[in-house]
Amino acid sequence: MKSESAPKVLISGAEIALVTKRLAAAITRDYRNKNPLLVGILKGSFVFLADLVRQLDFPLEIDFVRLASYGAGTTTSGEVKMKHDLQLNVKGRHVLVVEDIIDTGITVKFLMEYLKKQKPASLKLCALTDKPSRRRVKVKIDYRGIEVPDKFLVGYGIDCDEKHRNLPDICILDE
Ligand code: IMP
Ligand code: MG
Repeated sequence: MKSESAPKVLISGAEIALVTKRLAAAITRDYRNKNPLLVGILKGSFVFLADLVRQLDFPLEIDFVRLASYGAGTTTSGEVKMKHDLQLNVKGRHVLVVEDIIDTGITVKFLMEYLKKQKPASLKLCALTDKPSRRRVKVKIDYRGIEVPDKFLVGYGIDCDEKHRNLPDICILDE
């Protein structure tokens, strides 16, 4: 059980905005004329995706998936399940997956393999934060925001037991 001490700011909302701008510039260069399909992984990516797409001034579409990795607590069990599938067709589309944190990499690896089977024209990954110290499977992050330490993070969409998603900054939750 996590204590209720106040989360400490690790990355401020202002810093996140700068990083998002940099990622959006790179994405704009690569996707401007491709009508990409951005796929947000619920729930954690919803704030980042909302800010990111408002920096993208070209035609695009948005869809969501919800994945669950089994096991309680703050670490993944290794088994991933699709809880809510895409509504839009992936075949022939330029697909960009948008994620909040790449931790062990297991969740996003599952999704990339799942989507690849549906024959997109291209498939890439954008992640706001990357925790490479915890990686268990290899993941290629095409648009990588900020490297973060091996701490449990909350805020800016990211939760601990559904709490703290509404914080404007990315914070460290004390043990
Ligand atoms: P994975 O270990 O890379 O499969 O990460 C799976 C999911 O765990 C991510 O999409 C996040 O939603 C969540 N996650 C990973 N690290 C943290 C964290 O520090 N705080 C809250 N959620 C996390
Ligand atoms: Mg997530």
